[in-house]
Amino acid sequence: MMRGLLISTIALAAAGALGCAPDNSMSDDAGGAITYTKDIKPIFAVKCAPCHTTEGMGGHNIGSNYADVLSKVQSLDAMGCWDSTMTMPVTRGECALISIANGWMPMAMGCFNTPRPATCVTTDQQMIIAQWVAAGMPQ
Ligand code: HEC
Repeated sequence: MMRGLLISTIALAAAGALGCAPDNSMSDDAGGAITYTKDIKPIFAVKCAPCHTTEGMGGHNIGSNYADVLSKVQSLDAMGCWDSTMTMPVTRGECALISIANGWMPMAMGCFNTPRPATCVTTDQQMIIAQWVAAGMPQ
């Protein structure tokens, strides 16, 4: 419940932020769904490298391995990625969005600043990721 609410809140906020963007990725299912392979991996492969493409930091390579999207978060430091009792982690795919939105990831790049440094996920990219999470993170 908490987790669903949190993620929809982020998705809505992200969608609002991009109200007048050109639309090729803002599609509904009819127009070509957002997928990991086509849309998300290319973002993570750049912005999360090398930590989560080859180095497996935090226990995953979300930028190169789809299976890691569906695995559960392990780090207790992952703020917003657990329920209030810290017993139920969300998936790493969901946590990726949360961690990008709150500036924790990519790590140590000051991504909580406005504007975000160039090494961070852009707000446009974040919105695409939010739509993908809302759609159930299809491969
Ligand atoms: C400079 C290296 C680095 C980069 C770049 C980076 N991360 Fe991380 N990430 C880490 C480290 C280190 C941890 C483990 C932190 C901890 O356990 O406290 C982590 C943990 C995580 C976790 C929590 C995993 C778990 O199971 O606890 C998620 C989700 C995550 N990163 C997503 C991302 C995403 C998405 C990107 C790119 C947009 C990214 N990270 C970029 C270093 C990085």
